[in-house]
Amino acid sequence: MHCTKKITNDLIWVGANDRRLAMFEGVYSVPNGVSYNSYLLKDEKTVLFDTVDKAVHQRFLENVASALDGRPLDYLIVQHMEPDHSSALEDILARYPKVKLVCNAKTQTFIKQFTGLDISDAHIVKENDTLNTGRHTLHFVMAPMVHWPEVMVTYDSTDKILFSADAFGTFGALNGALFADEVDFNKEYMDEARRYYANIVGKYGAQVQSLLNKASSLDIKMICPLHGFVWRENQASFISKYALWSAYQPEEKGVMIAYASVYGNTENAAEILACQLREMGIKTVMFDVSVIPASEIIAAAFKWSHLVFASATYNAGIFVSMEALLNDLVAHNIQNRTVAIIENGSWAATSGGLIREKLGKCKNINIIEQTVSIKSSVKAAQLSELEAMAEAIGSTFPLPAKNNVEDKNSKAASIDPAAMFKLSYGLFVLTAKDGSKDNGCIINTATQITVSPLRISIAVNKANFTHDMIIKTGEFNLSILAESAPFRIFEQFGFHSGRDTDKFAGSDYLERTANGIRYVPEHTNSIISAKVCESYDYGTHTVFMADVTQTLVLSAEASATYQYYFENIKPKPQPAPKDQKGFVCKICGYVHEGDSLPDDFICPLCKHGASDFTKITGT
Ligand code: FEO
Repeated sequence: MHCTKKITNDLIWVGANDRRLAMFEGVYSVPNGVSYNSYLLKDEKTVLFDTVDKAVHQRFLENVASALDGRPLDYLIVQHMEPDHSSALEDILARYPKVKLVCNAKTQTFIKQFTGLDISDAHIVKENDTLNTGRHTLHFVMAPMVHWPEVMVTYDSTDKILFSADAFGTFGALNGALFADEVDFNKEYMDEARRYYANIVGKYGAQVQSLLNKASSLDIKMICPLHGFVWRENQASFISKYALWSAYQPEEKGVMIAYASVYGNTENAAEILACQLREMGIKTVMFDVSVIPASEIIAAAFKWSHLVFASATYNAGIFVSMEALLNDLVAHNIQNRTVAIIENGSWAATSGGLIREKLGKCKNINIIEQTVSIKSSVKAAQLSELEAMAEAIGSTFPLPAKNNVEDKNSKAASIDPAAMFKLSYGLFVLTAKDGSKDNGCIINTATQITVSPLRISIAVNKANFTHDMIIKTGEFNLSILAESAPFRIFEQFGFHSGRDTDKFAGSDYLERTANGIRYVPEHTNSIISAKVCESYDYGTHTVFMADVTQTLVLSAEASATYQYYFENIKPKPQPAPKDQKGFVCKICGYVHEGDSLPDDFICPLCKHGASDFTKITGT
């Protein structure tokens, strides 16, 4: 019986799930299964996007027939010829002999190679070609090496849907849900999404970045990949993960320790190092490479900032499972990491030098100079060597400071948030544009990083809609507020979300810079336009590094600082009515009523935390 899912009024998921497959591509274990997605568009013409793996072709054919509901199939678009998406191609051509096959020239060659079929009458498309199917116009965008050379993606400019082929896919069968927002994706699926990315397309970061660049000019409301969930909400967060992974930038500061141990002594050294790092407040994860599948360790290597490899020497070389892992990691182009090495050898330890040689081929890998070399087992004298390695790793972490419990003379570490307000923050209206949507928000963290190239950084709370627009478009304007800025500007751009309102509605701010983005032309002294070159995920905020593309100097007036704002711009709080109980936000004046305020409370207006609230005492 068919099992399909409606996506829009004229788009239907006709794929299928495989929970019996042991090894995807013969290499990657998929304990939670995998989905092979295929989509049927029912316009004036009917269009099928890709097919499925042979394991599920019977269900797929039932799904297609049911979704067509008696209509003919007009087009079959082959975006990716790999057999997990094309095994049912011959069945489709046989059942629907009048269907027009749509693909690029490289795909046509691959189809002939795999099947021997004569498809000389296929409709061959190239970059920016379009296909009109009635109400919908489909645009073809080449995406070579994401993940094979023939890959292309398709953008439906009518419903703003990106059919992304392997990109934005996830391991794991769809257990009744189709949309990422139907599940707790970050908790339940992000690890598998990272494992999928790192192992399937991790090698091709430059090509993924090229696709992300092309996608940044598209107004995307939905992403339909060939594996895993359809994204109809919060696509920006997943796109930002792809931006990090494809730039080989770590997601988290911490140390991944992978060890290969024959009798437990190399493992012992790795454990001691992990304990020392934890004493320093540094996060650690550990993997026994003889037990944990390489694909999981490769995914972790893409996640963490620091990597430690500890290996026994075996047949005068690296231990077999560690050597296989390192070969895989180097093949997947791992970059931008700090690495430390521990070797073990009972008579001639060679593994450390060989690991160093392998990883030395990778780009921007900082290998800590001192290898800890163990002879059979860790000796008391070597504890200091492991500690020195932990210190060397820790010295590359800006924070936290070492939690030295033995230092009785030092003051107990404490944090007074007031110290943070002594920093000389400015105040800025950050604006962005996505398609026809203009938006802006207030931020207080922007600074120049370098002169050549002229580069700035900004930190933006992820709750801001402007944040998502910048993730998607990579461009923004910074309007530097002057001391004359009235409170109404803060009310206009802060305290509410651009998701629900048009922050420029009724305003006179019509001016745009060369990048097409609006700015605030009054009560500001300068405007900076910038294009994002890198972004870093810091939990609640994203830090964007951006190259300056244009500047305007509007006045000689002094810039408003955060302190100036509180002392001169922000209205003074009125005394609370007698008997009122609650907490007031010092930043925006929002009142949370009640006897208590949770520690993790976030102001619904300005997104500041509980530390920025004061208790209402009443009069
Ligand atoms: Fe899902 Fe590259 O095949």
